[in-house]
Amino acid sequence: MHRIGVIGAGYVGLVTAACLAELGNAVSCIDSDAEKIALLRAGTLPFFEPGLLELVLRNHHGGRLRFADSPGDSVRASDIIFIAVGTPMAPDGQADLRQVRAAALDIAAFIDGPRIIVNKSTVPVQTADYVADLICKHTQGDHAVCVVSNPEFLREGTAIADFMRPDRIVIGVSDAAAENTMRELYAPLQAPILVTDARTAEMIKYTANAFLAAKISFVNEIANICEAVDANIKDVISGAGSDKRIGVTYMNPGLGFGGSCLPKDVLALHHMAQRAGVAPRILDAIMAVNRSQVVLLIENLEAAVGSLGGKRIGLLGLAFKANTDDIRESPAITVARRLCENGAIVRAHDPAAVESARALLGDSIAYVSTSYEAANDADALVVATDWNEYKHIDFAMLKKLMAVPILVDGRGLYDRRKVEDSGLIYVGLGDRRLMPALR
Ligand SMILES: NC(=O)c1ccc[n+]([C@@H]2O[C@H](COP(=O)([O-])OP(=O)(O)OC[C@H]3O[C@@H](n4cnc5c(N)ncnc54)[C@H](O)[C@@H]3O)[C@@H](O)[C@H]2O)c1
Repeated sequence: MHRIGVIGAGYVGLVTAACLAELGNAVSCIDSDAEKIALLRAGTLPFFEPGLLELVLRNHHGGRLRFADSPGDSVRASDIIFIAVGTPMAPDGQADLRQVRAAALDIAAFIDGPRIIVNKSTVPVQTADYVADLICKHTQGDHAVCVVSNPEFLREGTAIADFMRPDRIVIGVSDAAAENTMRELYAPLQAPILVTDARTAEMIKYTANAFLAAKISFVNEIANICEAVDANIKDVISGAGSDKRIGVTYMNPGLGFGGSCLPKDVLALHHMAQRAGVAPRILDAIMAVNRSQVVLLIENLEAAVGSLGGKRIGLLGLAFKANTDDIRESPAITVARRLCENGAIVRAHDPAAVESARALLGDSIAYVSTSYEAANDADALVVATDWNEYKHIDFAMLKKLMAVPILVDGRGLYDRRKVEDSGLIYVGLGDRRLMPALR
């Protein structure tokens, strides 16, 4: 049993805290947002993540998971302290480390003995050194502090399973005793552990996210070409992806990547590369393709319905992907904004993200409680998030409800032929201009 403090009760911090408590450790989860902590103490989650509420409640009631809105007691009582605060995008694209700095200063202010500090936030190369320096400079007394890089690879929507059954655990550490403690902590997960130095561990996280983003932009570009030459993208992915070197996972064409990680991490890596004198040409292309997907959708929608001014558009999805209420950098939100800017009247549905979207978009769009309400009397229906319930939508019902039966498939969820057989007009993301016949 370890005594653990986790600074940050967001998607990563709270999942880390609850899972480590589930493994039998005594965990204190700290957040400077007192409202968040009050909600957690009252048994409510501050965000939606499948299965997390049950895990939090079980461990809270079992006395293994506590919540604190100030760091003092938890930092003093813990042997291992995780930093799991946000590292958002600064205006120039680099990672904004202010929350990490504040967490490190809190640790420095309250430690009273040796500690292992674990950077779980996604941070630029050299941040472990930066945190160690900060703590060393600001702490009273001479405490042995070892800063470990332990990047997190969980995905919102499947966060608990990802934490409990990871493909690998990366530990960037140069101190043998700290390495042993980290190995012991994660031993119950029985996952492969890669131990390396902290800088390499930090780089591994950015590499993984940049590669995932590259896969998405690559498949989007291929899908756009497929639409233009009338080839079937699903079969193309299946045919090319069955080569083991390529694979079919993460090859879903659509509106592009969003969320709190990929967009900011690709930009942060871009920034790091430039600072190191390396031209990040592939990263440039990843971001350019990603930006163009929403533009394509709006152009195709306009081509189908004409000018958007005064048109009633149903929007299915606001979250950046299914199974989360997270709308950070959500392409669906960008679509909503573009529609409004073009004068459309938008009625949106999302199974989990309406409240977060309302806080951002206010009354600029209307929010409805079923997908069919969004479709009712609409001049087009745009699918912007890949929620399961949209995959099985009743095309015949849409045909009945909609004023103009145009279905814009922003997530590649449907088979064009099945949609068209139901009497709907299918609009994909590519521009579908057919190539001139080969002579
Ligand atoms: N969300 C994901 O899917 C995911 C996956 C892997 C890695 N990450 C990385 O993990 C980190 C955290 O991401 P997140 O999505 O959980 O962020 P988040 O914004 O949901 O949560 C961060 C939390 O930290 C709190 N906080 C900030 N400064 C604090 C301080 N000084 N003391 C105490 N609490 C403080 C905030 O109030 C907030 O609740 C980021 O670096 C992110 O890139 C995120």
